[in-house]
This record gives sequence, C-alpha cells and structure tokens, in this order.
Amino acid sequence: MDTLSLKFETLFGDATDLQRYFCPGRVNLIGEHIDYLGGSVLPMAISMGITALVKATNEPIIRLHSTDFDETIEFDIDHLPESKQENWTDFVVGVLNHLKSKGVILSGVNILFDSDLPKSSGLSSSAALEVLSYFMFTELWTGSACNRIQMAIDCQRIENNFIGVNCGIMDQFAVANGKLGHALLLDCNSLENELIPLDLTAYQLLIINSNKPRQLAHIAYNQRRAECDEALRILQHSNPSLPDLVSGDIASLYLIEDETIRKRARHAITEHERVKKSVQALKKNDLIELGRLLNASHASLKDDFQVSCDELDFIVAELQALEFCIGARMTGAGFGGCCIALVEADSAETVSKKLITSYENRFGFAPSVYPCNTSDGVHAITT
Ligand code: GLA
Repeated sequence: MDTLSLKFETLFGDATDLQRYFCPGRVNLIGEHIDYLGGSVLPMAISMGITALVKATNEPIIRLHSTDFDETIEFDIDHLPESKQENWTDFVVGVLNHLKSKGVILSGVNILFDSDLPKSSGLSSSAALEVLSYFMFTELWTGSACNRIQMAIDCQRIENNFIGVNCGIMDQFAVANGKLGHALLLDCNSLENELIPLDLTAYQLLIINSNKPRQLAHIAYNQRRAECDEALRILQHSNPSLPDLVSGDIASLYLIEDETIRKRARHAITEHERVKKSVQALKKNDLIELGRLLNASHASLKDDFQVSCDELDFIVAELQALEFCIGARMTGAGFGGCCIALVEADSAETVSKKLITSYENRFGFAPSVYPCNTSDGVHAITT
C-alpha cells in the first residue's frame, strides 16, 4: 500500500477500492491582470497540485481530511454551512452547495486531500481545490463527465459569490482545461481557447516562489479592477463601440487625464498585445522573443499596473542580469507570490543556487525554486 492509502486507512479505517483524482495548480506564462477585462491570457497547468483519495460510505456525512492542515472536518449532508467558515473546507463546501442547488443528490464520502502546491503563493491552490471537488463529486454522484468549460465558469462563480474573491476566470479555466506539454491560450471574453504546444527545447521554465505572503492583495486587486472600469468608461465616452479596455488604442490614452488610470489602461492594452505576440513567438519557436515579452510584461506590471513588490522586483532583476536567463517576470496577482524565468536548461541549477543566496542575503529568508513542468487538467488517476 502506498503512503497516502496507508494514511487514509489510519484515518478512516477502510482503504479498499479507493478512487483517486488529481487537479494541477497553474502558472501564467503571460497575460496578467487582464482576464477580468476580457483579455487573452496564456496560463498552463503545472505538475504540482492536489490529489484526492475518496471512498463512498453509508453514512450521510462528508468527511474531509487535509494532510497540509493535518485536520479532519466533517459535514452532515443535510446541514451544509450556508456561508464560509474561514477555513480550507470553504472551497469544497462552496462546490457542494452549488451542486446541491443544481439537483445533484449528495451522499456520504471520506476524502483525503494531499497537496504539494505552496499555499497563498499565486499557484492557484484555491482554484485547484474547487475544480478538483467539482470534478470528483460530479463523477461520483452523477456518473457523468463534466463539461469542463461550464465547470470553470461555475467554480469562478463559487469563488466570487461564496468565497467572496472577485477573481477572473483564468485560474479555474487553466486547471480544468490545461494539457501536458501545452500552454492554454484563453480569450476570457468568448472563452474560445487553443492549446499551444510548449516546446522550450534547450530552455527550462522556472517558478520562483518569493515566499512573501501576499498581504492586502485582494484590496489592491479590487482597486485595479475599479481603475480599469474607470479607464474603459472614459475611453468609451469618445468611442462608444469600444467593447473592452484591452482592445483600446494606445493613441487614445491621452483622453485619460488621471495619470494612474492612464497607466492601468496602458498595461491592459499592451499586455493583451504581448499575449498575441507571445503565441506567435511560441509557434515560430522564437524563445528569445518570448523572453523579451516576459521582461516587458514585468516592466508594465511594475511601473504601469503597480502590482509588484521589492521581493518580486529583486528576483526579476537578478535573473534578467544573468546571461543564461532570456526572460523573467512576476506571475499571478502580485504583491508577493511567484515569478517565472526562462533559463538555459543546463544552467538552471546554477541560476537557482545563485538566486537563493542573493535573495536570502537581501531579505533574510529564502525563495523556493521549482522547475515548471506542464500537466493535464483535473483528471481521475486510473493506475
Ligand atoms: C489572480 C486571479 C486571476 C487573475 C490573476 C492576475 O490569480 O485569480 O483571475 O486575475 O490574479 O492575472
């Protein structure tokens, strides 16, 4: 028996005929802070994620254990909390309430969740727990497979309405629909999407977790959204047919008098362009151009959208100064969390060591560096 099954047996007694599911986290290659503006984004599902072991029971109870929190919490299926309890089970309960409201008949289960995704680091552990729960419960209780696009839409709504985080759709969509060996180009307006083969040849994509907790990020996030709404309102005044901010014209930005609002709009428009150019670069296997676009994205997030922080800027500057690195930027919502970097594969280890030392000298704590490998979106593990 493997370690997780043993753990399950210790916790719940019977570990025969367990079903297993996995949901990856995600990293965003490029297209930051434009999913909620209807822009295009290019995330990928990653090999770090959450595994669930599940077994049906005859009791009307949903028993959830998290190895991360070393905690078991149970719910009576007829008395699920109607609002969040401010703990990790909220993401599961949000999904349970949603499925129940859609007429799905809930029944008893014991579940063990085990994650190797660092929490609160911008790798979408929340989206992974929502999508994993949604996928697993739908398969267990309805016997039918999920529509993965609808699942992403529903999970985003659960995050918005039950959890109370006003996020866009990128994270839930990426962990639901990602594919091994690919990045996922997503038009967040139409939800049209295309898998883009990610052939990095002699390069390695690294994820660098600053290990800086993201403080007050949600307040700044909502503020950025409001500033972008304001920019769109101003631009639509002279161009009523302008559908969304990302399709605005850089030349018309002079119409926005307020410098802060103008900068936010400039980021939205230029970042959307960079996504399109990045896809072209990937299709032509022009990784040097992709690296240049990653660098430009960071500059825009730092100076125009102002969602970076000292730790992320330090990591990016250190990496960009190395000849083995062809591009680096912060990724995710910002104010802490992670960066990504495209480095020569042979020097990935040297780069990591150098960076860990200089970062620790500067900030007094170390970052974590992981090679970024792609993965399939949420799935049952059949072996
Ligand atoms: C968070 C949100 C996403 C997206 C990114 C920034 O991850 O959940 O919807 O807005 O920030 O690109």
